[in-house]
Amino acid sequence: MAQEDIFKKLVAHCKEYGYIFPSSEIYDGLSAVYDYGQYGVELKNNIKKYWWDSMVLLNENIVGIDSAIFMHPTIWKASGHVDAFNDPLIDNKDSKKRYRADVLIEEQLAKIEDKISKEVEKARLRFGEDFDEKKFRETNQRVLANQTKIDELNARFSKAMNDNDLAGLRQIIIDNEIVCPVSGSRNWTEVRQFNLMFETEMGATSEGASKVYLRPETAQGIFVNFLNVQKTGRMKIPFGIAQIGKAFRNEIVARLFIFRMREFEQMEMQFFVQPGLELDWFRHWKEIRMKWHTSLGFGEENYRFHDHTKLAHYANAATDIEFRFPFGFREVEGIHSRTDFDLKQHQNFSGKKMQYFDPEKGESYIPYVIETSIGVDRMFLQIVSAALQEEELKKDDGTLDSRVVMRLPSSLAPVKLAVMPLVRKDGLPEIAEKIIKNLRFDFNCQYDDKDSIGRRYRRQDAIGTPYCITIDHQTIDDNSVTIRYRDSMEQERVKISQLKDIIAEKVSISGLLKKLQNE
Ligand code: GAP
Repeated sequence: MAQEDIFKKLVAHCKEYGYIFPSSEIYDGLSAVYDYGQYGVELKNNIKKYWWDSMVLLNENIVGIDSAIFMHPTIWKASGHVDAFNDPLIDNKDSKKRYRADVLIEEQLAKIEDKISKEVEKARLRFGEDFDEKKFRETNQRVLANQTKIDELNARFSKAMNDNDLAGLRQIIIDNEIVCPVSGSRNWTEVRQFNLMFETEMGATSEGASKVYLRPETAQGIFVNFLNVQKTGRMKIPFGIAQIGKAFRNEIVARLFIFRMREFEQMEMQFFVQPGLELDWFRHWKEIRMKWHTSLGFGEENYRFHDHTKLAHYANAATDIEFRFPFGFREVEGIHSRTDFDLKQHQNFSGKKMQYFDPEKGESYIPYVIETSIGVDRMFLQIVSAALQEEELKKDDGTLDSRVVMRLPSSLAPVKLAVMPLVRKDGLPEIAEKIIKNLRFDFNCQYDDKDSIGRRYRRQDAIGTPYCITIDHQTIDDNSVTIRYRDSMEQERVKISQLKDIIAEKVSISGLLKKLQNE
């Protein structure tokens, strides 16, 4: 199936099964804003818990905060967002559609990369087990020619972005014959800068009101509380402050479902270190964060680092963790070595010292910062796009069947177990209800007695429920039930008294956290 169709199916599935709805749908929706449904919110909460616990529980020197969305407007002047939180936009004169110039170029790069990947896959099929991918990439003429194109385009692109050269960006679009996906024409306007922050007014009257912004990142709430936390928590460097919260960006082109939204949620951690040690810590956090992703079991080959060649003026190293979405490898998380830029700026603009007295060195300094920043919604999209699968099955009589299954990691699944009486009589529903009454303190359980047992299994597969418990007539005799495993579809007979232990071991977030520490 084409990748585009897979993605469309994913969006439809998320809506049909109560994961994600378009916002304000009865009013025809609001562009790039989404609501999470009954299962979506559970998955989202589990993702946040996995992240929070991996930061705050596993690290004695990381604590959390929850700062306000509204902040003093000067904060955004100090951070550089008022002057420089811009995207370069370009319009197509024929379709009247607006695009991000940098995204058009990135998509062009992705297209060339795609050509290389196809060439490699073709060769892999041709040579079978003897295929040496590294050698093939180094010697195949078509691959080499495309790689040269990528390198040249990347170099021009980085230079234009670094120099803030808007005319240069436009020229790249013209020279590479990039067309508008809607009109198919190359009739482009000039490239202009567009600030992404939403503004509103705070105060009762228009005269007395002052302009405030909806925060475009949660990080600044951490920086301005750096000394509050350090002093009240008696934190010693190195230490980190973690935060989860909403962020808002007036994205020019908000596309790809929840990949790029105008209202979204971030999980950010700022780690304060001694100046000079920041690149060691940067490497440390790169490794830790990659492990956090790969521990979910979606295959290491689906992740990669993309080290930045174009660095923001405040950073001395930066990388993205990219995941292979149905629309290609894209950023899920950024890891940035932000130097002392933010704290220094807040010191300058507020007139308050943002220094730390290091008792071991006997001196005061402004710490350097390593930031890890991941979007909750993008992580959500990563998980559902990796988990959702359509499988062909062979029935006992040899005929073919299929099922749609969300292979979510059990510890993140919204519903952990569905409890199903085989029939709605003979006391079976009462036993099911009793089981739920006992287990609901520990797990999110669902009672389901509608339709045939096969259809009920399929419904739970589509939601991603890892375990289905079926109560049948044998249960009345010996207090045993069947537990059916979502992924293997195997069934096992166990005692009701064993259920809690069997399931707890598999669905707890602590299982995932232990993996992080042991690997
Ligand atoms: N404090 C640094 C910062 O905000 P960023 O690279 O702009 O860095 C970090 O954003 C992460 O936030 C991204 O890797 C992505 O996961 C998420 N993110 C950013 N913009 C987003 C948007 N418009 N919609 C959804 N997620 C977004």
